[in-house]
Order: sequence, then C-alpha cells, then structure tokens
Amino acid sequence: MRGYLKEPFWQAVLVLLVSYALLEWGITYIPPLLGFSSAPVPQSVVVQFMLTIALGVLLWVSEKEERWGAFKRPIREVMVLPERRKSRAALLILLPALVGFITYDMVRPTAAAPAGIRAVHPAPPTTIDFQGEMLRIDGAENPLRQEGRIEEAYEIGYDIYYRDCMPCHGDYLAGDGPLAEALSPRPLPLRGTGTISELTESYVFWRIAKGGPGLPREGQPWNSAMPAWEDFLTEEEIWAVTLFLYEQAGISPRTWEEF
Ligand code: HEC
Repeated sequence: MRGYLKEPFWQAVLVLLVSYALLEWGITYIPPLLGFSSAPVPQSVVVQFMLTIALGVLLWVSEKEERWGAFKRPIREVMVLPERRKSRAALLILLPALVGFITYDMVRPTAAAPAGIRAVHPAPPTTIDFQGEMLRIDGAENPLRQEGRIEEAYEIGYDIYYRDCMPCHGDYLAGDGPLAEALSPRPLPLRGTGTISELTESYVFWRIAKGGPGLPREGQPWNSAMPAWEDFLTEEEIWAVTLFLYEQAGISPRTWEEF
C-alpha cells in the first residue's frame, strides 16, 4: 500500500476519488453532523469541479519530466507487459461494462415524473378561499352572465383587460404582449382552440384570481409570471374580465353540463 502511494499515478487516482466522495457525499452529510444545514450538490456542479480537479492533477503530474514518466509507467505496463495480461483482460471487460452501466443508469426510466412534463391545464380545486371567503369553483357559473349583464360586464372587463392583462396577453389576446418575450413560460393565448375555449368560466376565474402562485403541484415545476389578481380586483371585476375574454375571442365557455 505504502509503495503504491508513492506512485504519482495512484496519488492522482486517490485525489480524484477523495474529491469525488467529498463533493458527492461530504458536502451533504458532514455539515449536518456539525449542526449546519446543507443540500446535495447538483450533478452538473460535481462534473464541473471534477473536470477542474482532473485538470489540476494533470498539470501537477506533467509538470516534471520525471514525474510524468512515473505517472505513465503503470498505465504502460498494464497495456504492454506480458505478465500483466490478466489485469489487461480485466480492464478490457470492466471499462466497457462501467460505461455501459452508467449509460443505462442515465436512460433508465424511474418512478419519478420527468420534470419537463407538466399539465398546462391542471384540474381546478373544488373550492377556493377568495379574499377570505369560501368560493365554489366546481359547477359555478358566471353570475354576470346569468343575470344578463353581459354588455355592462364587457365594458368593465374591457377596461381591466387593456389596463392589466394586455402587456402580457397581447392586444389581440394571442399571448404576445410586449412583455411576453421576456417570460418563460410565456403568457398563454386566450383565443383559438385548446385555450380558454376548453375551460369553464369558473376555471378561468380561478386562474385569474390565483395566478401562477395558485397552481397545484401537477402544474409545477413552474415559475409562471401570471399574477394573483385577487389582490387587485374584486370578485365582480374578475367575473367581468372573464366574460370579456370569451366575448372578445368570440368563443363560448365550456359548460358544466358537458362533463
Ligand atoms: C406579467 C404577465 C401577465 C399578466 C399581467 C397577466 N398574465 Fe395571465 N398569464 C401569464 C402567464 C405567463 C400565463 C401562463 C402561465 C400560467 O398559466 O400561469 C398566464 C395564464 C393566464 C390564464 C390561463 C389560461 C389557460 O389556458 O389556462 C388566464 C385565464 C390568464 N392568464 C388571464 C389573465 C388576465 C385576465 C389578466 C389580467 C387581469 C392576466 N392574465 C394578466 C402572464 C400574465
């Protein structure tokens, strides 16, 4: 063992192994033992650090001609010496197997949902807490439409839309307002197929009232810029702007009877 540790090759291997162990587990498990909080290091950061450390090790072993020769010796010996045939054969099997295993491990399906897939229209809650009061979403109709106050609601909704929503959702409700380019995820278009035409008015009410922060888990990971308008608009104003969206886009809301 002592003899091995004098060899630059094994020293390099040791440095790499210890660094990897520290990055992968040390940072996660040692601070909590000392009473500090900690979190796992992201894989991409581990890779970056390992590349940097490997580069440093390479600089160190190649710095002196003598050390470089000593570093290469064990590698050369395993590759060419007849008496090292067994190690050579073992390496020829183990290395491809290792690469194969790592590749398999990376592409293997896991039970966790892939982060990229998220529901754009997640199921709405049955009730919400709207400005401190319980409001039913499930089965709810737009009261302004029911009371026949369509024109009045359209006017109110028009003003709200062009004041509050246009910068993101666009003049033409196409999801392309002046701020849209800067946002990811982008504001959704509110006209056309596959948009609010597939939703009930109470669903749209819920989305406007609660915005991005109110999206349930299946709508995440999600950093929607959609504001929670319950902080700025009254219940009637939100129903009005909801009605405005449908009238303006020339589509009718999905009704609860269709379910
Ligand atoms: C700061 C930009 C921004 C503003 C302002 C904004 N929205 Fe949004 N809105 C978004 C983004 C981004 C999304 C897509 C992500 C999401 O669903 O949360 C969205 C989604 C929506 C949806 C969901 C559509 C669907 O198909 O599920 C509705 C409805 C909506 N907005 C209505 C409005 C209304 C009404 C206003 C004005 C009162 C408004 N938005 C103001 C950014 C904005």
